[in-house]
Amino acid sequence: MSLSSFEFLPLTEDFEFLPFHSKDKDLNDFLFDDAKRYLAELMAVTYLFIDPQAQKTVAYFSLLNDKVAYDPEERSFWNRLNRKISNRKRRKTYPSVKIGRLAVSEDYSGQGIGCEILNFIKHAFTHGNRTGCRFITVDAYAAATDFYIKNGFDFFTKKDRNDATRLMYFDLKPFKDALDK
Ligand SMILES: CC(C)(COP(=O)(O)OP(=O)(O)OC[C@H]1O[C@@H](n2cnc3c(N)ncnc32)[C@H](O)[C@@H]1OP(=O)(O)O)[C@@H](O)C(=O)NCCC(=O)NCCS
Repeated sequence: MSLSSFEFLPLTEDFEFLPFHSKDKDLNDFLFDDAKRYLAELMAVTYLFIDPQAQKTVAYFSLLNDKVAYDPEERSFWNRLNRKISNRKRRKTYPSVKIGRLAVSEDYSGQGIGCEILNFIKHAFTHGNRTGCRFITVDAYAAATDFYIKNGFDFFTKKDRNDATRLMYFDLKPFKDALDK
């Protein structure tokens, strides 16, 4: 099954939700209880994929602005990151977009939809941008870090390796360069 079979729409404050079920309760609660409030407060925008035939929500993700900032305790990481950026454009912070939430409904999981959504986001932030955006960041659930690694994400630090979530990033420039070749 491919994303192109589904309708894509940004959540609106008057949207009437169609059924969605993730095995993770927090992700269900966010969609039904919090996503509209985040939208109203300009804190995150949620996007939905809907299966029009089944009248179900296939998946959703929410996005917010972020920045990748220099951490003096992670100097060697920062040097590695900076090496990817041309000399004259090196800064102490870089613009980024955060995936606040990403979830695929259980009925639709394991069919490549999660990967397609990450590609969709990568494409959206490298083509026709309104603002500069160099990285995608995510606080990945520890159980989902392999999913992000498969999709080209990397860890910022080892300090969070025993935490419930791990901060990860994806560099959009090589992705864009490969597409534009
Ligand atoms: C994680 C999630 C978004 C993946 O979506 P999906 O549509 O099921 O994933 P895909 O079918 O695109 O899987 C792509 C690859 O990642 C792997 N993968 C998927 N979920 C994984 C997970 N939780 N851990 C490790 N690997 C995972 C798949 O096995 C597949 O690998 P393969 O190509 O080698 O077979 C989805 O399972 C989900 O909503 N999980 C619960 C919520 C969650 O953890 N969200 C992330 C919050 S940070």
